Amino acid sequence: MHILLVASAFNSLTQRVLAELQDRGHTVGVVLALGNDDEMREAVRAQAPQLIVAPMLTSAIPEDIWRAHTCLIVHPGPPGDRGPSSLDWTLQGGAESWGVTVLEAVAEMDAGDVWAWSPLKVPPQAGKSDLYRGEVADAAVDAVLLAVERFASGRHKPQKQEPAALAAGWRPFMKQARRRIDWTSDTTETILRQLRAADSQPGVLDELLGAQWYLHGGHPEDELRGGKPGELIATRAGAICRATVDGAVWIRQLRPWREPGSRLPSYKLPATEALGELLPSTVPEVPAPLDLPAGRRTFSDIRYSEQGAVGVLNFSFPGGAMSTAQCRRLLEAYRFACTRATSVLVLGGMRDFFSNGIHLNVIEAAEDPAEESWANIHAMNDLVEAVLGTTDRLTVSALGGNAAAGGVMLALAADEVWCRDGAVLNPHYKLMGLHGSEYWTYILPRRVGESEALRLTQSALPVSAKRAVELGMAERVLRAAPEELGDEVARLAAELAASPDFAERVARKKAIREQDESLKPLQRYRDEELAHMRRNFFDAREPHAGLRSAFVRKERASHTPPHIARLGLAD
Ligand code: COA
Repeated sequence: MHILLVASAFNSLTQRVLAELQDRGHTVGVVLALGNDDEMREAVRAQAPQLIVAPMLTSAIPEDIWRAHTCLIVHPGPPGDRGPSSLDWTLQGGAESWGVTVLEAVAEMDAGDVWAWSPLKVPPQAGKSDLYRGEVADAAVDAVLLAVERFASGRHKPQKQEPAALAAGWRPFMKQARRRIDWTSDTTETILRQLRAADSQPGVLDELLGAQWYLHGGHPEDELRGGKPGELIATRAGAICRATVDGAVWIRQLRPWREPGSRLPSYKLPATEALGELLPSTVPEVPAPLDLPAGRRTFSDIRYSEQGAVGVLNFSFPGGAMSTAQCRRLLEAYRFACTRATSVLVLGGMRDFFSNGIHLNVIEAAEDPAEESWANIHAMNDLVEAVLGTTDRLTVSALGGNAAAGGVMLALAADEVWCRDGAVLNPHYKLMGLHGSEYWTYILPRRVGESEALRLTQSALPVSAKRAVELGMAERVLRAAPEELGDEVARLAAELAASPDFAERVARKKAIREQDESLKPLQRYRDEELAHMRRNFFDAREPHAGLRSAFVRKERASHTPPHIARLGLAD
């Protein structure tokens, strides 16, 4: 079928639905709903779709379009649930199960006939965006594929929603007043629920050290105590720990509140960085051990564990963004992991983003963004170089979620790349006005060939896990729910370590690396890439700084970008 996707942004779910439909042989076009109904009408005319699907839409489809075409809307709630803050209410209410519905567009929001729906289990710890990119995206894809199949059959009659059920299911937009934390009485569990329901957007508005902030991300703390509820008692790796009435919580990022109409920027930063000089020097930095004992409840963004011959280096950074400091800490942990007597070293293996490359927000906030970009790209390169240079064991990148730009190259530096079936890869830098580094000119062609590497980096389009395997970018697609990924990765890594040709593989890998190095040293790839990147970062005529600023400030495009608008038209 020829399907047109209408979406408010080319976000993770839209990219995933696009990739999954393409994987099943459908041709797919995309138009972004950016407040210009005529652009949408023009796309519908040009694409002449058999079906319109809206994976993530925050505005209405014009009536003339939904009257002339069947338009299916994805709603992140089970049948009967309605309103714009579905997941927020669900997480705040502590629901354990939920669902995603595909319904037909009609005049009233979420009130159309139901074409399909899919249930999901709400994981106990995940924040809203993590849930959205994980279980919700899985359920949405299942429901969309079923709805498309039913539509294609021409025989399916969608289910009407009864007016009484519709009235009962409506829940309004969740305002900040409903998200407030009362530090004098709310328990740790209540506070964590509030934080998760608002993560990663819009955060929970609160007061701290005499200023107003949006709080982002929440983790429990089971040992640190002291201070009055709400007071800052520790810091760790950019996060802050605040006392509660019955314990303490970690908050990873802060975003300053601004007066309405203010021109001052407001974007998220690691909490300690956002506080800057406001942070009292008396608050201690409490490092997290790499290997946390089982059962401890605390925050740590990098962990190392071992099971027999397998070492696992877990890491998880908000938005997949890796600042200079985060890259350096991860490199230190990686080096430690390499001193251990293991045969297989797994990188990642956690739910949600693997990595999205250098930390654009931290760079934007730096006194000298070009210098900070330079430091960040070197730190990222050092990490990738360490993975490429590991020749005494096999390395595996396990992607529970998406990766982009340098984050993809970090993954592909390993000997094997295993992607959860929902992961979407964006192996390109072009949209950020960058040539790219992380040894991509070595890493990508050696896996997919020169011409495919060029096509992937120039087309700037997402690649599904399945397609990544077909292209040679990855070895395995893991069919596991986000919460089950860790166990599945551990099982497969143990199998790999025990494989009969293991020693031979390690020896072959070492020989290939040595041969590659003699043909062209890694340092040369790095120098050549960085010569371009230096210009991208430091030359005021380059577009990168403007693109970065628009990205961190979440400025919306006014039109569907041409590389997306072209999709489906040539098919
Ligand atoms: N630096 C800082 N923040 C980043 C980031 C980066 N490199 N990549 C993603 N994020 C943040 C986003 O701002 C967003 O924040 P929010 O949760 O507050 O909205 C969050 O991570 C999720 O990203 P989003 O864009 O909503 O997810 P997506 O799955 O729809 O899109 C990407 C993913 C990777 C396509 C998109 O985020 C992107 O283009 N990132 C930049 C990649 C890049 O160019 N890196 C630098 C070169 S190495």
